[in-house]
Amino acid sequence: METFNLPFCFPVTPEGFRANANMKYAQRRLSEMRDYFSNYDAIKSVLAQSNPIIYEYWEMEYAGSGNGISFGMTRIQPGQIGNEYFLTKGHFHADGLGDEMHLTLDGQGLVLLLDREENTTCMEMQPGRMCYYPGHLAHRTINTGSRPLVFMGIWPPHIVHDYETLKRSGFPKLVVAGQTGPELINNPRFSPMN
Ligand SMILES: [Fe+2]
Repeated sequence: METFNLPFCFPVTPEGFRANANMKYAQRRLSEMRDYFSNYDAIKSVLAQSNPIIYEYWEMEYAGSGNGISFGMTRIQPGQIGNEYFLTKGHFHADGLGDEMHLTLDGQGLVLLLDREENTTCMEMQPGRMCYYPGHLAHRTINTGSRPLVFMGIWPPHIVHDYETLKRSGFPKLVVAGQTGPELINNPRFSPMN
């Protein structure tokens, strides 16, 4: 937290995060999310027209040597590629340690959790609801609603994020738009992690 003057307060909104020049900001557009959606024809078709933002995030990783806290905010746009909802890349915490919590502020969604034995759990995200994940579970969030899904995340400092495992193997489950709402289906492109 070397770049902040402590203590500090700011609004827990995308605007509040954006107004803080010390916050890391990144956006993920479809062109760099090709490996995370299952319908390649749909990806190609959308990219022929535009390159939409799938999600963006702000984060402040604690860099000091004390017992600080890392935190951030993510905003996933509403939308689908084929019938698969917009999602984050998702990641494991490399050492399996370091729990994380997400507090949903706006929108509707799901979080998919995955252990190293390839067991999947799904939890609902809605405004005012907090989800807590033990450090050994990979987490990916999915916007199943019609407005942006906005949530704040908090995690311990010095976590190493492993994005490669999910990029290589995919997630065993996909969340798609069904006749009556979101459905969890098996991912035909999933390849074993171990
Ligand atoms: Fe995480």
